[in-house]
Amino acid sequence: MTTNSKRSPRSIQLQNGVELPLVGLGTFKAHGQDLRNTIKRALDIGVRHIDTAAVYKNESEIADALEEAGIAREDVFITSKIGPHQHGTEKATLACEEILTRLRVEYLDLLLIHWPGVAKMDVKSVRNAHKRLETWRVVEDLYKAGRCKAIGVSNYEEGHLAELLEVAEIRPMVNQIEVHPRFQQTNLRTYCDERELAVIAYASLGCGDLLRHKVVLKVAKSHGKTAAQVLLRWGLQQGCAVIPKTVHDSYVEQYSEEALLSWQLSDDDMEELNVLEDGHKYCWNPAPIR
Ligand SMILES: NC(=O)c1ccc[n+]([C@@H]2O[C@H](COP(=O)([O-])OP(=O)(O)OC[C@H]3O[C@@H](n4cnc5c(N)ncnc54)[C@H](OP(=O)(O)O)[C@@H]3O)[C@@H](O)[C@H]2O)c1
Repeated sequence: MTTNSKRSPRSIQLQNGVELPLVGLGTFKAHGQDLRNTIKRALDIGVRHIDTAAVYKNESEIADALEEAGIAREDVFITSKIGPHQHGTEKATLACEEILTRLRVEYLDLLLIHWPGVAKMDVKSVRNAHKRLETWRVVEDLYKAGRCKAIGVSNYEEGHLAELLEVAEIRPMVNQIEVHPRFQQTNLRTYCDERELAVIAYASLGCGDLLRHKVVLKVAKSHGKTAAQVLLRWGLQQGCAVIPKTVHDSYVEQYSEEALLSWQLSDDDMEELNVLEDGHKYCWNPAPIR
């Protein structure tokens, strides 16, 4: 897929000029010493984007890790997300303050709405749409106040995006969604691209499962790369930024710019991986949410 996004060798330029690093570190289910070691190692090898969320409950630990690493605030790109239980004006306002406090930062680089639905609300209820719009207004206000450099959503389907784009004062700049060879989301990514929303792919490794796929392993062998590198390269060549998660130093090594940005999959490799599409999702499904 070709994209409208402006890409440098290391980042995607968002609508407002902010540079989103192409490679980041996911942190879902990462905690404690493992998380601290992995962040330190990731920073050492040049990874500059850390993806977290209120629901991951690791923002304070990430703040500790960044402090321990002694990295300057402006040298790291931090994304966090307002959780599904934090929709609505009051809760989202509080959620944003708490995120900034836990991360011990003056500003976020990217703030996302994690999920289009409200926790525990009937997915068919129209109140989901009302509440997530209230949340968006809070996000816009935080942006206007300079407390986040870029804003966006996650797990938004075309319908959710169309509705938001119609009323947004400040347009979303990013949609973070599940994307990998088995669930490519080509239509949604094209929709995003046409509206200048950059796509951050999550679960690029199929939550670990795709690392064992025979086609992935075959392509990896032919390039002398690992299965993870092939899957991440596939995501990058689809025009996405990627945020693989690991708590192992040896795996982090595979995510350096040198390891991911200095080589390419051929058209034939891409074709072989593209045929793995079977609509299989590893994570949650936002499609039914009104
Ligand atoms: N917005 C959303 O709704 C949403 C949803 C899901 C994920 N995310 C974000 O996206 C990130 C990535 O997604 P994900 O964590 O679901 O899955 P993922 O990155 O596809 O896969 C992570 C799994 O792969 C393993 N792994 C990673 N690198 C490896 C390597 N080189 N070799 C072998 N195994 C490897 C990890 O093991 P170890 O950890 O044991 O090393 C972990 O079990 C998350 O951490 C989170 O930040 C966002």
